[in-house]
Amino acid sequence: MKNEDKNIYKTYDPESSIGTEFRRLLFNLTNNRVLQEKGKSFLITSPSVGEGKSTVSTFLAMTGAIHRPRKTLLIDADLRRPVIHKIFDIDQAKGLCDVIMKNVKLEDCVKKTEIENLDVITSGRIEGNPTELFDSPAIPGIFEAAKFYYELIIVDSAPVVPVTDPIILGTEVDGILLVIKAGATQKEVVSRAIDLINQSGARLLGVALNNVKQALPYYYNHKYYGYQYASQK
Ligand SMILES: Nc1ncnc2c1ncn2[C@@H]1O[C@H](COP(=O)(O)OP(=O)(O)OP(=O)(O)O)[C@@H](O)[C@H]1O
Ligand SMILES: [Mg+2]
Repeated sequence: MKNEDKNIYKTYDPESSIGTEFRRLLFNLTNNRVLQEKGKSFLITSPSVGEGKSTVSTFLAMTGAIHRPRKTLLIDADLRRPVIHKIFDIDQAKGLCDVIMKNVKLEDCVKKTEIENLDVITSGRIEGNPTELFDSPAIPGIFEAAKFYYELIIVDSAPVVPVTDPIILGTEVDGILLVIKAGATQKEVVSRAIDLINQSGARLLGVALNNVKQALPYYYNHKYYGYQYASQK
């Protein structure tokens, strides 16, 4: 993450076309027809690194907390490249790793953000191998507790092709959103990611194309006009 990305959450504008896209994305996730009832816990992954997982996780969590406000928890489960503490400028220590390894209660690791209704669990100080950490028998209990306290849970995770972390966590949530960087990720890699998720027993709820403005300018304009139309109703 570059320095200028710090606090990207401050660039979130619910009135912008991006705000509209995130409301649509969150609606499509929570009301996904694959789910028997409304979904509330989602894991965000992508085929490879740097495709926009943490950005999409942050904006989705903010959308949930701000738009038709729900008590929202954003969990940094990318123990290989954790950034949620940087984005919100909060202490990394005492987070998910402490809950998994040291039996610290989830409630004791929750950090408030400047946004009402949005709490964060940072990665914590990472000790040991993330894959082994996620194999811990403590994991289901952690998600149960999160689901008890929160109406929306967004989990930022590692990429799915190089490591197994998202697959392990994927069955603990209602479903997975795959973020793909348009114009960058090869289709074979995307296919592999989809196969890995489908084989794992986790539910793939959808795909979000990131970087569309740079890769597909026409597509972006089309969306933009859609937004203009909707706002005049
Ligand atoms: N739509 C976008 N337009 C411009 N920059 C973006 C966009 N989405 C993400 N970025 C930038 O791209 C970089 C990677 O994004 P991000 O950290 O969200 O990806 P990631 O998939 O979480 O990466 P990692 O695999 O390192 O965890 C960051 O610098 C972020 O600010
Ligand atoms: Mg990330």
